[in-house]
Amino acid sequence: MPTALVTGATAGIGRAYARRLAAEGHDMVLVARDAERLGELADRLQTRHNVRVEVLTADLADAAQRAQVAARVGDVDEPVDVLVNNAGFGTGGAFWDLSTDVLQRQLEVNVAAVLELTHAAVRQMRERGRGDVINVGSVAGFFTASGSTYAATKAYVIAFSEGLATALTGTGVRVMALCPGFTQTEFHQRAGLEMSKLPRAFWLQADQVVHESLADLRAGKPVSIPGAQYKALVAIGRLIPKKLQRMVVTRTVPGRT
Ligand SMILES: NC(=O)c1ccc[n+]([C@@H]2O[C@H](COP(=O)([O-])OP(=O)(O)OC[C@H]3O[C@@H](n4cnc5c(N)ncnc54)[C@H](OP(=O)(O)O)[C@@H]3O)[C@@H](O)[C@H]2O)c1
Repeated sequence: MPTALVTGATAGIGRAYARRLAAEGHDMVLVARDAERLGELADRLQTRHNVRVEVLTADLADAAQRAQVAARVGDVDEPVDVLVNNAGFGTGGAFWDLSTDVLQRQLEVNVAAVLELTHAAVRQMRERGRGDVINVGSVAGFFTASGSTYAATKAYVIAFSEGLATALTGTGVRVMALCPGFTQTEFHQRAGLEMSKLPRAFWLQADQVVHESLADLRAGKPVSIPGAQYKALVAIGRLIPKKLQRMVVTRTVPGRT
């Protein structure tokens, strides 16, 4: 059976990936900080889908714990066939009001973990001539004029994944950036963002995001943007000059990060 490793598997999009990949018959390695939630999900997936589930409790903001997860990803004796770098978080409030500690942790989880785990995966996958890596970016990564450090981390994820996908052409290893728009998960509550005014049409469901992303991955796309509304938004955004984007942000976004 192929094995999939999902970071941030305890909630939201990561949990939806874990459920879907286990249902497809993958043995699973689940990574997050909350050991109790990981254990509960592992039991459920084992019982429901009769797959092997391994749990790795790790804080991906911590270099040593990240290295342990990278070692598992790169283990050639128990190879990971699908890596989903999903763990990540946003922050409400202006850059200058946030502590450098929080901003550094965001960089470690949203960027360093993606880089290090992808590195470990691609090495063993190239040798085996197959493997899939999904790096979860965001539609926000296309709109960095907002001045958000979160958007900047996601711009990195998109640029990195797209470039690596090209570099790996012909090796049997696929890399894709998944760029969801607003998705109903614990993300906004954790970030302290008030979202009650967002029109319903903009909300995506985690299962839908996962479903579209896997279809895009299997169709060989380097970037996946689930939902027609977000495909349109990104396409329009690309046509708007940076100068105009900056003007819009200056008038509408009071220092969001
Ligand atoms: N929801 C959206 O609107 C949206 C839109 C675009 C992109 N995204 C991206 O989608 C990804 C998943 O987010 P989500 O919406 O599913 O959020 P979520 O419901 O808050 O889930 C986040 C997951 O990441 C894990 N995590 C957070 N910090 C971690 C750390 N330091 N070490 C290990 N695991 C950590 C959490 O588990 P523990 O707390 O147990 O560690 C949890 O499983 C993120 O990369 C996010 O940036 C979300």
